[in-house]
Amino acid sequence: MESETLKKEKSDYSEPFDLDVLLGALKKGIFGKNVIFRDTIGSTNVFLKELAQRDLPEGTVVVADEQSAGLGRLGRQWFSKKGENLLFSILLRPRIPPNRLFVLTMVLALAGIDAVQKMSGISAKIKWPNDIYIGEKKLGGILTEFAVKQGVVEYVVLGMGLNVNWSPQAEHRLLYPTSSIFLETHKKVSRERLLGNLLKRFEAFYEEVLGEVNPGEGFYKRWNEKSAILEKSVVIETGKERVEGVAAGIDQDGALTLITTEGLERKFVCGDVSVQLNASEV
Ligand code: BTN
Repeated sequence: MESETLKKEKSDYSEPFDLDVLLGALKKGIFGKNVIFRDTIGSTNVFLKELAQRDLPEGTVVVADEQSAGLGRLGRQWFSKKGENLLFSILLRPRIPPNRLFVLTMVLALAGIDAVQKMSGISAKIKWPNDIYIGEKKLGGILTEFAVKQGVVEYVVLGMGLNVNWSPQAEHRLLYPTSSIFLETHKKVSRERLLGNLLKRFEAFYEEVLGEVNPGEGFYKRWNEKSAILEKSVVIETGKERVEGVAAGIDQDGALTLITTEGLERKFVCGDVSVQLNASEV
């Protein structure tokens, strides 16, 4: 006979998003003022970038139950299932120099793993620069897009996809080993409360980041503690080059410091990182 857990895993966990629950959680914050929900959308990032060019205020949030053309980094697609995961983008207009923008991706990743921990008990890690991992499996990803005019940041759109109540199947054509909160815990989590918790944390971190020339020692320490690649042998592919080395740390601007196999110290602000397995682990 099929166990209860198995039956649960096979059932359909799709549920419409309850916007009122999210708005209740976001009262008084910068993210509660302008929340746009769409049942189905092409991509929350593409939609919000269009709005960003029309003077929409900082803090605008776009959430969708489904994306027909969800985007990942480097032109990849982002797959999800209707009503089961979190798909959202936020609009920021930070007064920081463009070379510090990557800090915001790290801050969103940190807010994401903290909220996931709080709501589900899962201890996820950041795979620099934009992935959230649980063990060897991807739980979420961030797509950071921005516009800079004459050296001034006009807007930043941070989009996040987080696998919540999903049971990814083979037919989903996923590019990576993928997990979800449900797969890890066998418990369903309220997407609205999770997003509310995440945005509240992000807001607190964001204020801290804006208030300082460099993000506080606390952030710097925490995203290194929560890094899935620290002190590991990695390969970074930037599109222009492929560099091997050991991940030595993530600096206060969110850049990765790599000690290359030639012994050089190099910094990267973006790229695709893969961890190399030791011979004994293969
Ligand atoms: C990645 O891991 O490559 C980044 C994935 C980002 C996916 C999210 S889902 C919400 C937002 N809208 C998009 O089209 N992409 C981001």
